[in-house]
Amino acid sequence: MNPLIPVGARITDIKTEIEEVKTYTVSVDGVFYARPGQFNMLGYPGVGEAPISFSSIGQNGSFRHTVKAVGRVTKFLEGLKKGDRLFLRGPYGKGWPLKKAEGRDVVLVAGGLGLAPMRPVIETILKERPLFGNVTLIYGARNERQILFMEELRRWGREISVRLTVDEVLYPRSWKHNSGLVTDLLDKVRVAAESAIAFVCGPEIMMRFVCRGLIMRGLVQSHLFVSMERRMKCGIGHCGHCQHYGLFVCRDGPVFPYDEVRGLPDGLL
Ligand SMILES: Cc1cc2nc3c(=O)[nH]c(=O)nc-3n(C[C@H](O)[C@H](O)[C@H](O)COP(=O)(O)OP(=O)(O)OC[C@H]3O[C@@H](n4cnc5c(N)ncnc54)[C@H](O)[C@@H]3O)c2cc1C
Ligand code: FES
Repeated sequence: MNPLIPVGARITDIKTEIEEVKTYTVSVDGVFYARPGQFNMLGYPGVGEAPISFSSIGQNGSFRHTVKAVGRVTKFLEGLKKGDRLFLRGPYGKGWPLKKAEGRDVVLVAGGLGLAPMRPVIETILKERPLFGNVTLIYGARNERQILFMEELRRWGREISVRLTVDEVLYPRSWKHNSGLVTDLLDKVRVAAESAIAFVCGPEIMMRFVCRGLIMRGLVQSHLFVSMERRMKCGIGHCGHCQHYGLFVCRDGPVFPYDEVRGLPDGLL
């Protein structure tokens, strides 16, 4: 079968998360197996395709994508309704190394929309909680209105340590968390630094400072993983659109060990 031919999928639910960001529950016929950190090429004939991470992975061919409407494809998706069809190829790419995280303390750091690809990691950890040590999630958004998955953050906070921060507080009376950058919260993380593993997802400049901050606090560089975004076309290592100094972000990533991508020219890591 040609891996570039998309399959039809049905939108079974749509939830508006925040301004311009919706979560689509999508269902395909048959078995669909994906791992946290992987992505689909989502699109529609005549419109185009865009790489979108899984923001939740269910069973029986059902999964979620959380999409910010920024351009041609994502604005088209924004106009779709429950019951409409879209087309997808995938799952593609390498996911978060969850097996490697077993038996260790885990630090998850997400910025903005970066919480979406992290959600399947958290769902997996919560399903198999005894396999992991102390788990801390640090999540930062621009302001309270830009926070994704607030209900879930509250729920997750009962089982793992959840620390929230916003760059700018809009409602000081009701905001009970932190203000400032996610890096300000790294001191609050209690982990066995030399064995802990960290997954970081957000804007590249944020990932750079978070990884450096974690190393300064004793985490080992080879235990840090980041998820990278590059413009993509094929998604399967053929076209070269996503190439970044010898690495194909679609095929070799999008999740990379930090020491593989740190300091590459043109990158911000
Ligand atoms: C592995 C991976 C996972 C991703 N996961 C998600 C996700 O879960 N959710 C999500 O919302 N997004 C995700 N993205 C980002 C998403 O794929 C991009 O935003 C994508 O470009 C959207 O496609 P579009 O056609 O809607 O927008 P485009 O038309 O591609 O425009 C996107 C933005 O890029 C700008 N732009 C357009 N053309 C160019 C150009 N030639 N050069 C520079 N800038 C340009 C536009 O002005 C706009 O701001 C992911 C990307 C990758 C690589
Ligand atoms: S998108 Fe074509 S090689 Fe990566």
